[in-house]
Amino acid sequence: MSTSAAELMARSRVIPVVVLDDADAAVPLARALLAGGVPIMELTLRTPAALESIARVAEQVPDMLVGAGTITRPEQAAGAVAAGAGFLVSPGSPEPLVAAMLAADVPVLPGVSTATEALALLRHGVTEMKFFPAAPAGGPGYLKALAGPLPEITFCPTGGVDATNAGDYLALPNVACVGGSWLTPSDLVHGRRWDEISRLCRGVRSDEPQD
Ligand code: 3PG
Repeated sequence: MSTSAAELMARSRVIPVVVLDDADAAVPLARALLAGGVPIMELTLRTPAALESIARVAEQVPDMLVGAGTITRPEQAAGAVAAGAGFLVSPGSPEPLVAAMLAADVPVLPGVSTATEALALLRHGVTEMKFFPAAPAGGPGYLKALAGPLPEITFCPTGGVDATNAGDYLALPNVACVGGSWLTPSDLVHGRRWDEISRLCRGVRSDEPQD
């Protein structure tokens, strides 16, 4: 489990966190992210279109690793994997939810925001975690402080991460990638402005400032 999650985190320096209202947008969006060099996306289970969107990307865009985010109820884990999700992400890590995610047999990034929550996940053998909500919970300084006592844990900070601060997180030894919605803003998605999304992605890849 941990090895697979580590490979997942190594796939891209950024995991786009996507909210889709319309499953018809899923495939072109996935292709836009790929065109920008981002081969991973987290589709959040916050809309009725989410599972259908995951299924379409999994079937039609084989180079894209699509996962399910915002897993908040245990019963969602198996359903997301059945739809085609290649990984699972949750904002928190209560025990029943963690058990269901680990049983789903795909890489998982359960969410934590404290050392106590991280230690609870370590007891399950989970060493890769989402740090959420990253900015309000303490930002890069908080994560840096966790690296001393918890060096075996690798985080994907998400929540308030964007082009202006992603580099601060990625410079930390215990951060492999960051997650966020800034690469797929709703106005660009609703406007089907795929080229602009690809361009945002290229900015991350090349470390160029984005305007
Ligand atoms: C989320 O779960 O909403 C993600 O953490 C994305 O947060 P963001 O919109 O602040 O990037």
